[in-house]
Amino acid sequence: MNKKLSPRLLTMAGFVAPGESVADIGTDHAYLPRYLVANGISPFAILTDMKIGPLRMAWRSVCIELGSDEAFLPGRRTGGYELRLGDGLAPLSAGEADAVVVAGMGGETIAEILAADPAKSGSFGKYILQPRTKADALRTWLNGAGWRTFAETAAEEKGRMCTIIVAAPGGAPGCAGDTQEV
Ligand SMILES: C[S@@+](CC[C@H](N)C(=O)[O-])C[C@H]1O[C@@H](n2cnc3c(N)ncnc32)[C@H](O)[C@@H]1O
Repeated sequence: MNKKLSPRLLTMAGFVAPGESVADIGTDHAYLPRYLVANGISPFAILTDMKIGPLRMAWRSVCIELGSDEAFLPGRRTGGYELRLGDGLAPLSAGEADAVVVAGMGGETIAEILAADPAKSGSFGKYILQPRTKADALRTWLNGAGWRTFAETAAEEKGRMCTIIVAAPGGAPGCAGDTQEV
């Protein structure tokens, strides 16, 4: 992949262990899953967005990576990528990816996505969360819901420091590669 990732996206990518599949919620340009699959870190990535425009943009991004001119067809896996339209975790089946990324949205929106279906959100073992705003609201929600935080850091993008939180639901065994709860 020729596209150079920002420090924000590279830092998030560093929390995905080799061999882990990912689901990227609100993928938009698809830069992160594209990097993970193209570099052989993730065997497959599920790319979702609630809007068709960003999902089409994600498809264009993936096609550049694959050198493909296949028609946009959500729901079909091509070259390790599968695109799905829908809100939050709704397009996912329980536990079907090792790590779930929810990045570039407000902290309250991320908390709403996690809270919408506790059985579904509780079925995934690792979350990489990147609130653009209101990180405190997300931390408060995670603590209140009994989630565990395994790492928290900040990384730059376009001159701005962005919070990144790695967390897991209370019942999940933990985050592969991150043994230390913070
Ligand atoms: C600013 S972009 C972030 C793109 C990428 N995740 C990143 O961090 O660079 C936010 C994207 O999230 C999508 N989005 C917002 N709320 C969503 C939701 N509840 N479910 C799925 N996608 C959502 C938007 O349509 C938009 O494409």
